Amino acid sequence: MSGFDASWLDLREPADHRARNEELARILTRHLGGRPTIEVLDLGCGTGSNLRATAPLLGPAQRWTLIDYDARLLDAAVTRLARWANDWQRNKDTLILEKDGRTISVRFRRADLVNDFESVFATPADLVTASALFDLASGEFIAEVAAEVVRRCAAFYTVLTYNGVQRWTPKHPADADMAAAFRAHQVSDKGFGPAAGPMAPQLLATAFDAAGYHLNEADSTWRLEEADDILIRALIPGFVGAVRETEKVPEATIEDWLKPARTGALVGHTDTLALPA
Ligand SMILES: C[S@@+](CC[C@H](N)C(=O)[O-])C[C@H]1O[C@@H](n2cnc3c(N)ncnc32)[C@H](O)[C@@H]1O
Repeated sequence: MSGFDASWLDLREPADHRARNEELARILTRHLGGRPTIEVLDLGCGTGSNLRATAPLLGPAQRWTLIDYDARLLDAAVTRLARWANDWQRNKDTLILEKDGRTISVRFRRADLVNDFESVFATPADLVTASALFDLASGEFIAEVAAEVVRRCAAFYTVLTYNGVQRWTPKHPADADMAAAFRAHQVSDKGFGPAAGPMAPQLLATAFDAAGYHLNEADSTWRLEEADDILIRALIPGFVGAVRETEKVPEATIEDWLKPARTGALVGHTDTLALPA
């Protein structure tokens, strides 16, 4: 188990898809959309949200390998991808999806990105991708992934990496202290060693830039309003729980911060597309 529920990933998926940067998506399509076949490796796939958003940007025949260490999420991914497709069939361990004129074959692999790193990167890939993953990872892991991508001259596209921006509506006097504690929590170990947290976009950029890759970075901030009420309310326990764990904000302040109902939230994310020169 990873601590990420399928129901939480379901809840955030529409906001994630809405926030993805469209200009970067267009550049990806310009560079890779014309390939008749493509191999894609999706790291930390959860229930397959990244495939559902990225496959429409790519060509007619796609072979995806979806990696996660959480068996429950991989099972949920099978169900959700079959439901998303216009048609599907199973061939041994491969799910073959037909979606809007594309044939997308998907293999699911339960693996730990840290402990099984070498075997994960033995998977063929023209494109290595991820969604909402790299802020959990360490700087060392980011450098290793970049090195693997560069070694095979693959493209790299990761979306919705948390970048440290967090604003709530209405404002509260403790917002800055709460946000600082949350950022401190974001750099604690999430299974990869000390997490890059909000530094992840910068570390990704530096790694690919140094390798001579053509780097594109753009904003994919969640701008949540009253219509996103359920998601806003679901964010608060995770945010406050993380703040409490740091013990950086007095409990009385946290209790006071919790009093007003939030009608809006801004959660900063960055999308990164790195292409071989
Ligand atoms: C925030 S969720 C994002 C899921 C999905 N990419 C999405 O956008 O909905 C992070 C995902 O990374 C997976 N994950 C975290 N650490 C991992 C590790 N060490 N090995 C494999 N998967 C991992 C979790 O199980 C979870 O599915």
